[in-house]
Amino acid sequence: MESPFKADVLKGKVALLTGGGSGIGFEISTQFGLHGAFIAIMGRRKQVLDSAVSGLCSQGIPAVGFVGDVRKQEDAKRVVESTVKHFGRLDILVNAAAGNFLVSSEDLSPNGFRTVMDIDSVGTFTMCHEALKYLKKGGPGRSLSSGGSILNISATLHYTAAWYQIHVSAAKAAVDATTRNLALEWGTDYDIRVNGIAPGPIGDTAGMSKLAPEEISNKAREVMPLYKLGEKWDIAMAALYLASDAGKYINGTTLVVDGGLWLSRPRH
Ligand code: HXC
Repeated sequence: MESPFKADVLKGKVALLTGGGSGIGFEISTQFGLHGAFIAIMGRRKQVLDSAVSGLCSQGIPAVGFVGDVRKQEDAKRVVESTVKHFGRLDILVNAAAGNFLVSSEDLSPNGFRTVMDIDSVGTFTMCHEALKYLKKGGPGRSLSSGGSILNISATLHYTAAWYQIHVSAAKAAVDATTRNLALEWGTDYDIRVNGIAPGPIGDTAGMSKLAPEEISNKAREVMPLYKLGEKWDIAMAALYLASDAGKYINGTTLVVDGGLWLSRPRH
């Protein structure tokens, strides 16, 4: 689908995306690139990164991949530094890396809970922490008055509760809290805008096929009046809005992009 944004809304910006080699992260990488940004993607699997980078480059997008795990502070530091070394600066950090699996609370081990917290919540904070010195106003390649921005991808399942997702609910709630707290502190001190996106069920993603196999999706369609799948494109357009100057006065917001699904109840 054609973008409603001008092709230069992110012209010259450098974006680093964790989890940027697949799923929603890859679509954001692609759309940011098609709108003028230089793209660095971070992920654990070299093969996935390599094919993502060649997919981006084949569309004329300057792109580079760095292998790394957001759970390791040294990886976060190295990848942020490598991005700045490669492209000269950093303007936008997108935290899209996430871990997930369906399991009842009874069967989930504390280590399983911790693993998802480590990837989603601690990983998001670690990346923000390592990126701060490059994103703050007056940082390398930046003016004294203008900072960069951060986008954290979360979810809506913790607004209520979700079956077999206690670890993810807790982790995404922490991500949303991190978004608000960093927006307050870093917006005030460093002119960095920190926002989030909470996607609903998005078709053609690992999250969707893992969490809502087809039978569940079909059943959900029957009981939820607003039920329909979103597209990765929908999330990428929201990301463009928040990361570009269109969103310059938006800070500390997590934008729900779910077609209104989380509000819905069965009809009676
Ligand atoms: C129960 C599980 C499990 C499962 C892992 N664990 N998978 N427990 N059911 N299916 C437990 C393990 O038993 C172990 O605890 C602990 O978690 C760590 O497991 P490891 O395999 O050692 O971890 P690791 O190799 O680091 O992998 C972690 C991972 C990750 C979370 C499984 O590889 C992963 O999910 N990758 C896929 C990424 C993904 O799906 N991304 C899309 C996210 S979608 P013990 O106690 O045994 O040591 C998304 C959307 C959310 O986030 C919102 C949707 C609405």
